[in-house]
Amino acid sequence: MSTLFPHLFKPLKLRHKTLKHRLNFGAHTANMAEDGLPGPRHLSYYTERARGGAAMIVCEAIPIHSTGVLTRGNFRHDDDVIIPHFRKITDACHEYGTVMIHQLYHVGQHGDFDNSYEPNWSPSGLPSYHDSDGSHAMSEAQIEELIEGFVQAARRAKASGFDGVEVMGGYHAILEQFWTPWSNRRDDHWGGTLENRTRFSREVLERIRNCVGDDFIIGLAVSCDPETDVALSVEELQEIVALHDRQGLMDYVSCGSGSYFDFYKIIPTFLYADKLGPPFAEALKQVCHNAVVQSESHIRTPENANTVIGSGQADMVSIVRGQIADPHMANKAQEDKPEDIRPCISCNQMCWGRRGRDYWISCLVNPSSGREFSWGGDRSSLADTPKRVLVVGGGPGGLETARVAAERGHQVTLAEASPHLGGQFRLAGMQPRRGQILDLIQWYECQLEKRQVSVLLNTPMEADEIKAADFDMVVIATGSQPSGTGFVRALPMVSKMPGIERGNVWSVEEVMARAARPGTHVLLLDDAGNWRACGTAWHLLEQGHEVTLVTPDPMVGRELVRSAADHPLRVKLKQLGAQFITESVVKEWHGDGATLMNILDSSEQYLDCDALVLATPNVAETTLLDELAADGVEVHTLGDCVAPRWAVHAIYEGRKLGREL
Ligand SMILES: Cc1cc2nc3c(=O)[nH]c(=O)nc-3n(C[C@H](O)[C@H](O)[C@H](O)COP(=O)(O)O)c2cc1C
Ligand code: SF4
Repeated sequence: MSTLFPHLFKPLKLRHKTLKHRLNFGAHTANMAEDGLPGPRHLSYYTERARGGAAMIVCEAIPIHSTGVLTRGNFRHDDDVIIPHFRKITDACHEYGTVMIHQLYHVGQHGDFDNSYEPNWSPSGLPSYHDSDGSHAMSEAQIEELIEGFVQAARRAKASGFDGVEVMGGYHAILEQFWTPWSNRRDDHWGGTLENRTRFSREVLERIRNCVGDDFIIGLAVSCDPETDVALSVEELQEIVALHDRQGLMDYVSCGSGSYFDFYKIIPTFLYADKLGPPFAEALKQVCHNAVVQSESHIRTPENANTVIGSGQADMVSIVRGQIADPHMANKAQEDKPEDIRPCISCNQMCWGRRGRDYWISCLVNPSSGREFSWGGDRSSLADTPKRVLVVGGGPGGLETARVAAERGHQVTLAEASPHLGGQFRLAGMQPRRGQILDLIQWYECQLEKRQVSVLLNTPMEADEIKAADFDMVVIATGSQPSGTGFVRALPMVSKMPGIERGNVWSVEEVMARAARPGTHVLLLDDAGNWRACGTAWHLLEQGHEVTLVTPDPMVGRELVRSAADHPLRVKLKQLGAQFITESVVKEWHGDGATLMNILDSSEQYLDCDALVLATPNVAETTLLDELAADGVEVHTLGDCVAPRWAVHAIYEGRKLGREL
């Protein structure tokens, strides 16, 4: 029994089942199906979270009709052949006492032709907010076809050993399209009055119950997006959920945030406050007298989850990304060891960032996610022969190698030249709202201490010292450095920016490390489109600087589109007064101003400013590597010193190498 989280770790009756506690792993498209079937990648992904203690797992959505196929990794929507494959997953997870639910979805007007090769079906033919396609207003026969699709999917779920289904009604998917007057303009008995607008969802839920019988859980997933004018208000959603609850149509209702109109709030990054969803769940709890209420969205930690339940906002919670990042969150929390939980940093880089590009999902901080089947879960096996391992460089790659190697029984020394661990990732953690990165570095510090890694700070290593120290294995993770040349990819023939030697030029890393004095008006040249420049611009604005951000890209934050962070970030930068100049580069630096060139028509403009800050490509730091190679010392390498990239690559390579040492 947990003493730290007493409200969270209480059992909960849910129809014919009792959840062992209230921390669930909610629905999300892991996008791992192969040929429409859940295979070993899927099986191990879910089994690892069941082993890690999740009370209930909502296995990702299956489309219920050909017009609802949304991703390359979707399951087959109309074929009983899936049943024995899902049976493997439900059997494996039931071994751990996990209640297994299957989500069923159809996103109506917001479909994806590239995957479905069908027109989008909707109540009234309104356009998609996924792309710019229009949709087809369904006939009554087509409405009946979709309802039957839900029923057949539920029948298959029961035959596959699931304990229940969750019908997806949120994010302005098909159920909500019927509920919402803006998207339901029908004048037959499927539109108009509340009774008519809820007919589709009521028919779906009633007919599922008739098909699956009493001993089967039926959940309803909804979401709230009250800041979008045309979406349902909190009060309207309350009225709709209350109507379904009075009729006993669902055993639980799960409430998230955002919708296709405001996608950024569905899977909120660190730009949003913690516990985005619970106020909405609380509103629904006030009107539900039969159904259990689950809260979703940015609950993140067992501490938050315990508060949500203890304060009565919800009966149970879903933490999705937290358990992608650490599949063993529930067990660690229940054992009162929250300090061991590897924290999700709300970056969306490898979960939504991969799903959005139609790959199977993984995780920046936990590269085992999606690889459990080939890496043996999120665990390390002891090495046959313990060795003395030296890791040079305490950035994310070095930290992960040291952690995994020590977990495997090696005797590890980690040498870092600076006074702190974390490398450039620490500097990123100092950008506004990015403190979760510092939490992650703290987690590494705690884990290294627990595993008795000898951490040497302020310790630059020389090749001679390494040779003399006689380690069994040497790992070089010395990272990368700003190039100092101002080279941008848009001008491949200009290897050095004209005028860069005139001074008042710094890198974003120097700014974040407080090693720069950039004056009042800063020109920030961004050749990457990600947090390196955008987060530094935000930092400078908060410090009172004027910032003009110039980029060869057509928009600021282009690389942040994939993590659903770009729009809210641009809003924030604009609120703080940033100026954006897109599709442009710095042609020449004058020391107190710059000649900018538009890359579409080569037109030029002069901009007065005090400093130029560069977020241009880094170069690998290979000084030590080159010396060791000259001395014939064999080493392992990873991360930026191999090729300058991002923390995600360094952590992945660190985990991979740590497993192999
Ligand atoms: C990669 C990914 C895919 C998702 N796909 C779905 C989905 O298919 N159905 C759904 O209801 N929610 C989906 N979600 C939303 C989650 O259920 C959840 O509401 C969201 O991640 C916020 O909760 P969290 O902060 O605990 O991660 C998805 C989330 C992620 C990260
Ligand atoms: S990729 Fe980022 S947001 Fe997604 S689960 Fe991992 S740490 Fe969390």
